[in-house]
Amino acid sequence: MTTPIGIHDLSTATTNYVLEHATLAHHQGRDVAKYHKGIGQEAMSIPAPDEDIVTLAATAAAPILDRHGSNNLDSVLVATETGVDQSKAAGLHLHSLLDLPRTTRVVELKQACYGATAALQFAAGLIACEPRRRVLVIATDIARYDLDTPAEATQGAAAAAFLVSAHPAIAQLEPVSGIYSADIGDFWRPNYRDTPVVDGGLSVTSYLSATNDAFTDYREKGGRPLEQFAAFCYHQPFTEMAYKAHKHLLQTRGGTPTREVLTGDLGATTGYNRLLGNSYTASLYLALASLLDRGGDLAGAPIALLSYGSGAVAEFFSCTVMPGYRDHLRTASNEHMISSRKPIGYHKYRELYQAGTTGSESNRTMPEHTEGPFRLAAIDGHHRLYEAR
Ligand code: CAA
Repeated sequence: MTTPIGIHDLSTATTNYVLEHATLAHHQGRDVAKYHKGIGQEAMSIPAPDEDIVTLAATAAAPILDRHGSNNLDSVLVATETGVDQSKAAGLHLHSLLDLPRTTRVVELKQACYGATAALQFAAGLIACEPRRRVLVIATDIARYDLDTPAEATQGAAAAAFLVSAHPAIAQLEPVSGIYSADIGDFWRPNYRDTPVVDGGLSVTSYLSATNDAFTDYREKGGRPLEQFAAFCYHQPFTEMAYKAHKHLLQTRGGTPTREVLTGDLGATTGYNRLLGNSYTASLYLALASLLDRGGDLAGAPIALLSYGSGAVAEFFSCTVMPGYRDHLRTASNEHMISSRKPIGYHKYRELYQAGTTGSESNRTMPEHTEGPFRLAAIDGHHRLYEAR
């Protein structure tokens, strides 16, 4: 019998500030229904000047290390598409912040929003070779688009950290996964840009066809038929995208799904992302956290997951929820991370946006803004200096 491998603990984090879409719509002279209904977003997390993907990652990961310690921690895999350095892995900053063992392998992975799913599969492979190993995967991103573009309303930021182990307490990975990769110019960020270049229309159609192709591969490899799943977690650049993708998948298989059916299949997965905005690599795992926290009793249920990263790679895979999983969730702290953000007005948002532009400063002291447990205190001689509170 093969060893069961999967998610043993799951923890999340987001930024200090939040911008309501109602505020954005008001300043744009737009009907807020475009955001609330059209793209399915109500608010987006906005980073403080002393927050970045490292502080979000540390905030998400610290409670996991507090609960489980770092014994047998084989690897820390940080997935991000908004990395702070072209060479050094963001996870190495966690070494001092989280007191990681020197015997832990630390590496950063990138393939747009898909990276954390690759990390999860790599973690499962490491553990299959040696079941005592545990791997900490951290998905952490800050989604910034050019101001005054259609994509501006799909910004956001968050991190999801999960401990992957044998005999997991929360969800066990199923062995089949369907893959789709193709060279597509729907969304990318050249090294010299702070914001991505995006063809919004193409990104949506690419996501839809990638979903279909990844599921086709999943079925051809012996995966479950759609009817067997209790729920579907999709990557959510905006929550209506999950509805579009699921509808497309059901329709291409001859279904005529109503809104009610779609909501039954994925409504509970959208609760957090609707309020956080796009968190790129973390988005799929925040969909899973929302489902587990808000989706009723799922013990023993098979859950489908669709990971999509522009450029593009998609993976359709599945897990089953473990009996007793609720005892291991972090529902109260997940809800608190959302409700404790400080709402900001439009002018403050524009000011913070400008402050978040990387520039080329090699020396900079960050003003103290965040009330989170970790902050970026300064950049000194090109070194990023973080502090734990
Ligand atoms: N009331 C209700 N709905 C309204 C409305 C109103 N008053 N006004 C507009 N809408 C609806 C529109 O009908 C449309 O719905 P449908 O898609 O169902 O037709 C929806 O609101 C969006 O409106 P637009 O079509 O006018 O779209 P837009 O020009 O605002 O752009 C976008 C939307 C392309 C998603 C843009 O926000 C964007 O480029 N975002 C970034 C890219 C992105 O998120 N792509 C997703 C796939 S790629 C991916 O997943 C990777 C990733 O994370 C980036």
